[in-house]
Amino acid sequence: MIVTGVPPLVNTSPVWRRAWHPVAHAEEVTAGAPLQVLVAGEAWVIARFDGRLAAFEDRCPHRLAPLSAGQITTGGDGTARLSCAYHGWRFDGTGRCDLIPSLGRHGKISKRARLRAAYGVAEAYGLVWLAPEEPLAPLPAFGEWGAPGMTGARARTVRTRAGAGQLVDNFLDAAHFPFVHAASFGVSDGEPLQAGEVTTSSWRLTGVFDTPYRDGGVVVTHRVTKTSGPNGTAHVRLDLPHVTIAILLACLPEDADTTRVFKLITRGDIDGDAGKLERFIKEEDQILAEDLAILERYRCSLLPLDPHAEVHTRADRLSVAWRRLMADAAAQALSEPGEASEPGEASEPGEASEPGEASEPGEASGPGEPGG
Ligand code: FES
Ligand SMILES: [Fe+2]
Repeated sequence: MIVTGVPPLVNTSPVWRRAWHPVAHAEEVTAGAPLQVLVAGEAWVIARFDGRLAAFEDRCPHRLAPLSAGQITTGGDGTARLSCAYHGWRFDGTGRCDLIPSLGRHGKISKRARLRAAYGVAEAYGLVWLAPEEPLAPLPAFGEWGAPGMTGARARTVRTRAGAGQLVDNFLDAAHFPFVHAASFGVSDGEPLQAGEVTTSSWRLTGVFDTPYRDGGVVVTHRVTKTSGPNGTAHVRLDLPHVTIAILLACLPEDADTTRVFKLITRGDIDGDAGKLERFIKEEDQILAEDLAILERYRCSLLPLDPHAEVHTRADRLSVAWRRLMADAAAQALSEPGEASEPGEASEPGEASEPGEASEPGEASGPGEPGG
C-alpha cells in the first residue's frame, strides 16, 4: 500500500486562492496607474476606477499581455477605463471591453473580450486586500486598529524568502521567545511554557500563552492571545501589566520564492509622544528581523501539514491546530468554491490522526480540534 501524507504548505498551494490577502499599501494603488500584485504565483492587476477598486487577472484576453503595463484613461462617458499597452483594447471597471482600436469605434466586440475579476478586493487597515476566489473566512479582524486610546503604525514592510506558512506558524509560536528574541523581550523563567486552551470557532483559531517578558531591566508576565485562520494573517494581542499591544502580521505568498510581510502595530500608551512611537516601531522591526534571521536559515520554505513530519509537544498545541486547520482548508479548497464547510468536515473520517502521536508518550496532549 502506498501511503501519502498531507502535502506541505508552500507559497503556491491552491489553498491560498480561497483567502483574503494583503496585496499593497492603500497608497500604492493610485488613480493614475494599474498595479501588478502576485498571489500564490498568479498575477493580478489592481486599479482604481473613479475611486472604486477593481482587481482582474493581469492578462489581456487578446494576446495575454499584462494589463498592469497599461494605463488608466478616460472613456467617452467621462469614466475611467483600463487600456492595454499592447494593442490598446480598453476595459471598463467591470472588465467589459468597450473599444478595440484596430476594429474602429463601431467594430463588433466579442463577448469573450472580458477580464476575469477577482472574487473580492477591499481596503482595510490602510492595506488593499484581494481574494482570488470565494474566501473560506472573512477579512481578518483587527479591533485595536483605530480603537480609542490605541495608536497604530506600520512597522517596516519586508520581502523574504521565508514561506507565508512558516511566518504565520512562527507568529503563533511562543516557545521561541527566550531564544530567538533573547536580544529584545525574550527571557526564560525556567518554568514550562504556560500554553493555555486552543479554541476554534468556524475557521477562527485562538490560543493563549502566559509568558515572561523583559521590558528594559524588568521582567513581567504577560498574556499573549494569538488568533489566525485559513490565511496568511495572524493577530497577536499582548496584555502587559502597564500597556496593551496588538499586532496584525499579514503575509502575502507572492510566488514560490518570496513572501511580502506587512506588520501593523498598535499600542495603548503612546499618547501622542512621537519619540515613543518611533521607539515602538524600531523595536517591532527588530523583533521581526530576529524571526526572519532563523526562518531564512531554512533551506526550504515549506511548512509540513502532515502531523507525523515533525515532533510536537504540548507547548506547540496552537501550531499543531493551525497545521490541521490549513490541512482542512487545503482539502476544502480543492472542492468547488461556494461549498464552504466548517473546518474538519473536509477530511475523511479517520484520516486525521492526533498530531500528539508523533511525540513521546506523556509529552503531548491532544491539541484543540478545529471545528470542535
Ligand atoms: S494584448 Fe492587449 S490589446 Fe493586444
Ligand atoms: Fe518571534
